[in-house]
Amino acid sequence: MNAPLAPQTIYLADYQVPAYLVKTVDLHFDLDPAQTLVSSKLEMMRNPAGQGGALKLDGEQLQLHSVTLNGQRLSEAEYDCTDSRLVIDSLPDEFTLEIVTEIQPDQNTALEGLYHSGQILCTQCEAEGFRRITYYPDRPDVLAVFTVTLTADKAQWPIMLSNGNQVASGEFEDGRHWVCWHDPHPKPAYLFALVAGDLYCQQDSFTTMSGRQVTLQIFVDPENKAKCDHALLSLKQAMQWDEQAFGREYDLDIFMIVAVNDFNMGAMENKGLNIFNAACVLASPETATDDDFYTIQSIVGHEYFHNWSGNRVTCRDWFQLSLKEGFTVMRDQSFSADLNSAAVQRIDDVDMLRRMQFAEDAGPMAHPVRPDSYMEISNFYTVTIYEKGAEVVRMLKTLAGDAGFRRGTDLYFARHDGQAVTTDDFVSAIEEANDLDLAQFQRWYTQAGTPELTVECNYNQAEKTLTVTLQQSCPATPGQPEKQPFLIPVAVGLIGEQGQSLPLQLTDETQPIDGDTRVLLLTENQQNFTFINLPERPKLSVLRGFSAPVKLTQQRDNAELAFMMANDSDSFNRWDAGQTLFINILLALIAEYQSGSTLVVPELLTDQLAAILDNASVEPALTARMLTLPSENYLAAQMAVADVDAIHAVRSFVKRSLAVTLKIRFENLYQQLHQIKPYEFNAADLAQRSLKNTCLSYLMTLTEPVQVERCLAQMAQANNMTDLLAGLRLIVDVDGPQRQQALESFYQQWQHDRQVVDKWLTVQALSTLPGTLTNIKSLMQHPAFSLKNPNNVRALIGQFCRNNPSQFHARDGSGYQFLAEQIIALDKLNPQVAARQLGAFNSWRRYNADRQKQMQAALQMIADKSDLSPDVYEIVSKYLA
Ligand code: PHE
Ligand code: ZN
Repeated sequence: MNAPLAPQTIYLADYQVPAYLVKTVDLHFDLDPAQTLVSSKLEMMRNPAGQGGALKLDGEQLQLHSVTLNGQRLSEAEYDCTDSRLVIDSLPDEFTLEIVTEIQPDQNTALEGLYHSGQILCTQCEAEGFRRITYYPDRPDVLAVFTVTLTADKAQWPIMLSNGNQVASGEFEDGRHWVCWHDPHPKPAYLFALVAGDLYCQQDSFTTMSGRQVTLQIFVDPENKAKCDHALLSLKQAMQWDEQAFGREYDLDIFMIVAVNDFNMGAMENKGLNIFNAACVLASPETATDDDFYTIQSIVGHEYFHNWSGNRVTCRDWFQLSLKEGFTVMRDQSFSADLNSAAVQRIDDVDMLRRMQFAEDAGPMAHPVRPDSYMEISNFYTVTIYEKGAEVVRMLKTLAGDAGFRRGTDLYFARHDGQAVTTDDFVSAIEEANDLDLAQFQRWYTQAGTPELTVECNYNQAEKTLTVTLQQSCPATPGQPEKQPFLIPVAVGLIGEQGQSLPLQLTDETQPIDGDTRVLLLTENQQNFTFINLPERPKLSVLRGFSAPVKLTQQRDNAELAFMMANDSDSFNRWDAGQTLFINILLALIAEYQSGSTLVVPELLTDQLAAILDNASVEPALTARMLTLPSENYLAAQMAVADVDAIHAVRSFVKRSLAVTLKIRFENLYQQLHQIKPYEFNAADLAQRSLKNTCLSYLMTLTEPVQVERCLAQMAQANNMTDLLAGLRLIVDVDGPQRQQALESFYQQWQHDRQVVDKWLTVQALSTLPGTLTNIKSLMQHPAFSLKNPNNVRALIGQFCRNNPSQFHARDGSGYQFLAEQIIALDKLNPQVAARQLGAFNSWRRYNADRQKQMQAALQMIADKSDLSPDVYEIVSKYLA
């Protein structure tokens, strides 16, 4: 074998329609974990719209047994087989191709293609995993009708599933059995799936809007049979929601979900057969937290919604990934907002976007929502494609209005059903259904980087006018030195001295608009908007609901922020004013800390928090968010040079000082909220637990024995994982004998449950006490941990490197060295998981010179390895470039 070459860059500009099309695929699997035989029969035709040329089928890590053309077995001279392709020349316009390959699921640690997870055989094909099953045109614009026959030993593999409907089955005399599945909907290979195992099935049904009855099934390892209810309920909620919100009805007689323990991502929308990471589907009150319940509901929704946004209408090529992902995230966010608290959902979505996506946009991997090149597509399942993509679709909805957006998506689904299309096609449908011109809007898809929006207000007392000046710019990103102005929808409101909403009337308008919010459209680098009939000087509430994914600069002093925190009628902006106030105060204190001054928390902040606490019964979920300080990572992103130690010290100091001053309030509120009752997943109880545990986290900074007692009591009484884990997290950050005791008894109680054991690993990974890294290293030798299991890796290594900055960035560089070693080891097993872990180095150039040098050395150590996967190679080389 030759040494692998540096991976090729693939360009959107090189896109060509496929030379050959597949009409039908008939797959036969003789399943066995050691060696599985795959026979594929393809009815193919030359694409009349194609450029001609040879047939090139993708294939990797396959053992080719035979190739048969129109019934005639081909000799090796009649095709060309490399380690990534099977090429056949001089083919007729229509032909039948039969290919037999052999694969080894047991050897598959990359978890792409067919693999063995616990007692289950399953597949993962997106994006390019199908080529590890058989030779095939493995690209999303080749759609075919699949028929799949699975054969295996019946005792070991009693359940065998694939896409579509089961159409036949039978048994052989030797104890083997077979099942045949047919999926009538043409689909690309990335949506193919199969599952085999001895699985428990929980069943239910859903009647669609046209009265069809659909069977719903969740398949899990028998030990998890008590953890299916929540996902099943979420699925029914999602099916109903998609009918109401988007007019989308399900289109098969059966919908299946399978839970597997080894999975690279969260879940996968295979047609009719969604495969889930067990952590994203299994839940019971005793083992899953409120956050888990919430996430499961949204992921079950997300995968279900893909049935239309992704499956019925799919992507032409992988540059269009956000066509399905951005839109589907926007859909799952709306689903969660409708079923829970819309205000809290928006805050959490924006908070995550700013923490993760803004950092990506500001770093070496910055790319547009529709990228124009990549080396390894697996590296582009990013927060930019998903979360920024969702923001872009949300802006389209803002521009078209609710009804107009629905008209647009109706047109999109009707026009492109059964097709593989582009983000341009999506925007065109919204445009045409609403008579909009979205040419400039398209820059959101093509330009990377987070735009910066500056706002200035000038009040003219004599004229009674307020002139709002909006300015935009966008920093350079790799390959894009200059940016054109974006079309930015800026939602604004005006607030009077008494906190009341003021009328919104622009110059030349005869009367104010209805409502307290209106959207200004910024299209130039700079524009003025003048509001009239304002006898008093108003305060501007800008970017309400975070109407565009931009960084906002607005000169506001702490007093004004405090006023907006209390009075803005937009709940998002109330929260955001509070966050800005926190950031301003924390950054000022960090500067003091750096110059060696004594730190004092401004009274204004304490007063604000006191007011929030006194008012907490109003909206407990929002209150919990309002009380939460910005994360250390987010603070780091606000500094020219991130000072890890100062951030950690100052943030801890501020939290503790607030706890000291407001102790009585925190204690009273805790007492009031701490009620022992049966667990229920509903907005009110969720909010109550969230606020209660926020109070406890403040109280625990006091390091008083009575608070530790309180925390231990909560853990002892807890009848749900939310309260138990919240307690454990806090106890683990307090040095003392109770720490080790709590960890041990938690493990004793839950060692049989993988999802809970992962939480136990994470709690230790996030400890800010010294010795955390040493502990992590020893946990890697623990029977509970395997480097082959992505959930273990993410729970321990991933959490430490991404969410424990004060330990990961230890001065001696030990955290960096550790991560580099793990990435090198992981790359041999699972390149996708290895490449993801590199993300912890994304912002390496934003730290001081010492740390930069150490991180660079760690990255270089990885880059120096000669046999890197394309996944790791692409990211390491872009980070070092
Ligand atoms: N398409 C999946 C989703 O977003 C994510 C995924 C990508 C899963 C690649 C596996 C592999 O729902
Ligand atoms: Zn998705």
